[in-house]
This record gives sequence, structure tokens and C-alpha cells, in this order.
Amino acid sequence: MEFRVDNGRAISGRCRVPGDKSISHRAVMLAALADGESRFEGFLAGADTLATAAAFRAMGVAIDGPHEGVLTVRGVGLGGLRPPAGPLDMGNAGTGMRLLAGLMAGQPFGVTLVGDASLSRRPMRRVMAPLRQMGADITAAEGDTPPLTLRPAADLRGIDYVLPMASAQVKSCLLLAGLYAGGRTCVTEPAPTRDHTERMLAAFGRPVQRDGARVCIEGGREPLRAVRFAIPGDISSAAFPLVAALIAAHGEVLIENVGINPTRTGILDILRAMGADIALENPREAGAEPVADIRARSSALRGIHVPEHLVPLAIDEFPAIAVAAACAQGETLITGAEELRVKESDRIAAIANGLAALGVAVQALPDGLRITGGDMRGGVVDSHGDHRIAMAFSLAGLRATGPVHIRDCINVGTSFPGYVELMRGLGLPIEVA
Ligand code: S3P
Repeated sequence: MEFRVDNGRAISGRCRVPGDKSISHRAVMLAALADGESRFEGFLAGADTLATAAAFRAMGVAIDGPHEGVLTVRGVGLGGLRPPAGPLDMGNAGTGMRLLAGLMAGQPFGVTLVGDASLSRRPMRRVMAPLRQMGADITAAEGDTPPLTLRPAADLRGIDYVLPMASAQVKSCLLLAGLYAGGRTCVTEPAPTRDHTERMLAAFGRPVQRDGARVCIEGGREPLRAVRFAIPGDISSAAFPLVAALIAAHGEVLIENVGINPTRTGILDILRAMGADIALENPREAGAEPVADIRARSSALRGIHVPEHLVPLAIDEFPAIAVAAACAQGETLITGAEELRVKESDRIAAIANGLAALGVAVQALPDGLRITGGDMRGGVVDSHGDHRIAMAFSLAGLRATGPVHIRDCINVGTSFPGYVELMRGLGLPIEVA
């Protein structure tokens, strides 16, 4: 599947983006292990989160939906999962695989986790090493990449682990394993990362203890209690209509009901520092998360050196930020972002190649990018099967002097079903071939 975008100039209207991917994964996982029936509105019906739901169905959990965003999960309790008949396919989802590895480490049965070609290249040592310290029996393929095989281990024990990289997936993996471990499991982060697992554990009745950069959970069989809440729109998806409005010659959008958890709003801080006109309206709480409507208007952007402390708080938004930087005046420097190399694609390389194909002056750095804003021409961009690279480069069609073709866009459905229709509704002339 290819996108072709030609000569877009105006972006306007209001929209709602699909539910938050990170929260949707965690919602299914904790609800499956809770006592009682949980119900979520706004569940993301994307391939990644549907794979997580399918994995729990394969372990005997009754899950209904999502129907118009409503997902109902009849929890089986912490000890109620049944061995699946075959490997669990996590598709494209690093979050699905790494968080599930933590939960599976504590089960009395073995399981194999597999993924697609992209996931099968992603590093799993970061979860395997600490899980082994906890007593898990976990092996992977050559190079510590998927498939992951977990065999039933003797009792897990809590550890006190210092994360070598800022990763919410590794932190969450260990907290979830900690539900099944004896004693306390503690994780210290080098920098703040998204805290949805912590918030959600509290909502399910198993609060974590946080002391600065260290977060701990007590093991033990205290049950999780079923919940009902609404999952907010994903700020990582909102990033695309947001940047579209900023870089369009005539742009104004209102994106309603977006999660603005402070561990996710790095994109707003970065774009504002670049001169973006962004306003948060109608701030409120939904479930365990803060939510607002985001209004954005065409802005004269200027390049900045992105503060490194904002990098983990905007980690999935760099494809969109890079396109904004290509439309800004002057140089944008992104550093301290080496984690971008191990996402759904090597995003530093994918962004650099994509921008270069459109005539933008760009330099890939080991840990980031140097982008000089200026004119963009049409061209052909390879998304490397990465949903966010595909969506980000579709926005370039608002500024390029010729048509922009983007190859290999099928994975947009992993996080943003309905992307093409939504963006067309706002005025982006995007065609699918
Ligand atoms: C996620 C954490 C981030 C992010 C990913 C979702 C999560 O990954 O890139 O899309 O839901 O915990 P890392 O933990 O690898 O940084």
C-alpha cells in the first residue's frame, strides 16, 4: 500500500483520533488478570492492540469487542490464565511483546511470543536480562531477538533494577512481572518515561510506590479489581493532524479528547519552543489520565536544539517533529535520541533518507538528526513498514513543490485505523494506491 499526497495547502476542521495505544495494551492485560468484568471506551482497534487482545483470548480470557471502541474483558484473576494452544503472535508491537514477557514470566506454563519481520529484529535483551535476574526462564533467537520462549520457572523474586535506558516498556515489563514475584520489585529510571502502567495499576487497586526516579511494586496475590474507564485519544496519533495544521499555509484544527499525561506531552513543549501556536482547551480527567482538546494553527516555525530531557517524553513523535523541522527556518538539532534506532524501524535512518529524498538538508547522527529547514520538493519516500514514518511523510505533501509518494504504508493500521479518511476530512489530498 502506497500513499500519494499532492499539493495540499489548507488544513481545517475538528477531529478525534483513535484511543491511546499504550493505554489500550495495558488495559487488556490488567483487565484479563483482574477479578470481575472491566469495560473500556475508546479502546484502540489497531492491529497492535487487537493482537494483545487475541493473545489473552488464546489464554482463555473472554473478551468482547471492540465494538465502536467499547471493549469488555471478563478477568480470570491473577492465577487464571490457561496455556495457549500455540505461539502468541504480537504482530508489529514492541509494547505487546515486552509487557507480555513480564506477565508470562510468572505463569505456571510455558509460552512462545512471536512477531512480524520488524518486531523480529528488535532487541529483547533489555527485558531478558532483568527477568532472568528475577528467576525467569527466558530464551530468544540469535542476537536476543524474537521469538521469545518462556518456560515455567521456580518462584520469581523481586529485584532492585536500574534501567540502562529510558524505556517505559522495560519498566512496565518488570512491574508486571513484579505482580507475580516474592517481595518488592523496584525499577529506577534514568529519565522520566510514560507512567501509564503505574497509573493503571493504582486504578486496578494495586498502587505502586514512587520515590523520585524509583518505582516499586509489592508482589503477592492481592487481586486486581475490575475497572471501567474511557481511554483518551492518543497524543502520538494527534501529532499528525497537529503538525499538519502548523505547517499548512492555512491551518487550524481542534483535536478533541487527547491524553495530555505530562509524561507524553514532550511534543507540545518542543513544537511550542519552535514557535508553534498550540492551545489546550477544556482540560479534564478521564479514567486515570488527564485529557484536553488541542487547538493548533499555522505557525512560522524556527529550528531549535531539542532539550534532551524532552526526548523520552516525545519519543514516538520524532517523525512528525522532523517534518515540522524541515518546514522551520534554520537548523533543528535532535540529540540524545539513540533509542530511535530500535523502534519499528531505525527511525534516524528512515527520517534522514526520507527528508533527503525530498531535497531537505539533513544529517543523521549516531543519536539524533540535524535538519535544516527550507524548500521541499516531491519525491519517493520509503517508510520501511513503519507506521509513524508513513504518516509523518504524508504531511510533507503540504509543503513539497511536487507529489510525495510514500511506500509500504500498510502498518499505519497498527496505531491509526482510519488515518487516510481522517486526514482527507481535514483537507490533506492523500490518495491510496
Ligand atoms: C511504549 C514505550 C515506548 C514507545 C512505544 C510505547 C509503551 O517504547 O516508543 O511506542 O507503551 O510503554 P520504549 O519503552 O522502548 O521507549
